[in-house]
Amino acid sequence: MSESVVQLLRNEFSKVCQKLFPDLSNPVIEVMRSTQDTFGHYQCNSAMKLAAQLKQNPRKIAEELAKSVQSEAIQKVEIAGPGFINIWLTPEFLAKRVQDELQDPCLLACAKKQERVIVDFSSPNVAKELHVGHLRSTIIGDCLARIFEFLGHDVLRLNHIGDFGTSFGMLIAYMKENCRDAIQNVDNVSLTDLVTFYKQSKACFDNDPEFKKRAQQEVVALQSGDADAALIWKAICEISRRAYQEIYTLLDVSLIERGESFYNNLLAQVVTDCEKKGLVTISDGAKCIFLDGYVNREGEPLPYMIQKSDGGYNYDTTDLAALFQRVEDEKADRIIYVIDAGQTTHMEMLFKAAEKAKYLDRAKVRVDHVPFGLVLGDDGKKFRTRSGETEKLIDLLNTAINKAEEVLKERNPDWSAEERKKVAHALGIGAVKYADLSCNRTSDYAFSYDKMLKFEGNTIAFLMYSYVRAKSIQRKTGVDPSAIMKTTQIILTQPAEIALALHLTRFSEMIEQIVQDLLPNRLTDYLYELAEKFNAFFRDCRVEGAPEQNSRVLLTEAVIRTFEKGFILLGVRPVERM
Ligand code: ARG
Repeated sequence: MSESVVQLLRNEFSKVCQKLFPDLSNPVIEVMRSTQDTFGHYQCNSAMKLAAQLKQNPRKIAEELAKSVQSEAIQKVEIAGPGFINIWLTPEFLAKRVQDELQDPCLLACAKKQERVIVDFSSPNVAKELHVGHLRSTIIGDCLARIFEFLGHDVLRLNHIGDFGTSFGMLIAYMKENCRDAIQNVDNVSLTDLVTFYKQSKACFDNDPEFKKRAQQEVVALQSGDADAALIWKAICEISRRAYQEIYTLLDVSLIERGESFYNNLLAQVVTDCEKKGLVTISDGAKCIFLDGYVNREGEPLPYMIQKSDGGYNYDTTDLAALFQRVEDEKADRIIYVIDAGQTTHMEMLFKAAEKAKYLDRAKVRVDHVPFGLVLGDDGKKFRTRSGETEKLIDLLNTAINKAEEVLKERNPDWSAEERKKVAHALGIGAVKYADLSCNRTSDYAFSYDKMLKFEGNTIAFLMYSYVRAKSIQRKTGVDPSAIMKTTQIILTQPAEIALALHLTRFSEMIEQIVQDLLPNRLTDYLYELAEKFNAFFRDCRVEGAPEQNSRVLLTEAVIRTFEKGFILLGVRPVERM
């Protein structure tokens, strides 16, 4: 990625700082976007810290820095308060940035160093329906994966589905005894049927000691490679997979299925290895890794349990083995786990246990748990359908598409049914994704069809509408932007133009931030602001027939392309009409 403006300013100030204060070791230069327009475009806030180190007056340091900084990019600097340096960029510099990016779109799309990035997301559990928590993981994980892919990283999108564990013994035993037909005709069995079988098998397990024994034997059979048990297990996975795929297709999300069972043959090895390294304590017969600082509700030490007392392995074991495999075999530079906030303790303990076992060196491999909050209904309670059942995801998505179609029908009664259907899909799915991504993922989020389909405010409909408007403004001029790109220079004169260009140049800095803090709402906030800045520009600056027409056509072209990039990163299909 071409160096962002903020990075460029940081480098400028660092250079000056080194020149002025050569004896200072590791001075930290902070430059950031100004909190208010009156404070300039960017602010350098380092004078205060430098002054403390140098035992001098911060304002004086700020003045020295400001005097010495020399860059064609900077129009003026002002010192404010105790020593803030407010920076304004020249319109020429901003215009050139926008123009360069237009002429070479690749400028923006390559990271300095290509990394192997694993994103573990979606990850539902076999024989259960996906729930809204999995939807959040799917949407957030896909967006993050898209951002890393856009930067040119080598991204592995992993669906760590729950396809392993003792609960399958129950289901296998039950299906062997009661659902022979279903096993033979997997195509005719739905996930809903499977969930019913699961519930029934659980009832047998709880009430019939003989069945319980048979279920336990099936776990052993499955783990020791018994063909019949394996066949049923495969059928269970296949039925589940089909239902998940339907949702992923609707969402335009691609994933590589690599469930917990993938790590089967590593589990025993990982446990033995941890024992050899002296990390394992036996507690109530189970093999546990105890980590400092983790206690349960009763205040007793909370273990990271890698083998149960009955010899079985569990979620902790598969995650430890998966982390080992991802570092060792996949050579991951970064691993990103998009999992609900409820699993924060599990994730922290996983990372610590892996460090202790020397499977993970956090100086070399960056691991992140990307937690997210709950999905709430309009009433602020946990999201449910009217009947009180947890809503099936596929129904939820189809409802969003249908509601989008109704909204479009009202707005554009003249559209053909075909066109309406196409846009309704983009709008409905886009609305669900955008509503999720646009709230800070760490908070709970309230699901509301009505809100997400509004044409005003921070919604996908508003962005799509602004995008379509930009295209139509451009079309009306009759000028083809690619024909004039080389011969026309962008010239910024009006405040609204400068503000828009400044915002356009901030795209790379916004992406840089997401790479660090993994907050997709930075992208939606950016796009919303882009739409607002574009609307202000169009309100204040005539495009068609103005003397500045061609320059403004190019500025509009930059807006269109930025929207398009944004839609790709959000996983939203662009539309031609709204
Ligand atoms: N299957 C789990 C669940 O539904 C999520 C798995 C997330 N990934 C992981 N590596 N633990 O809660």
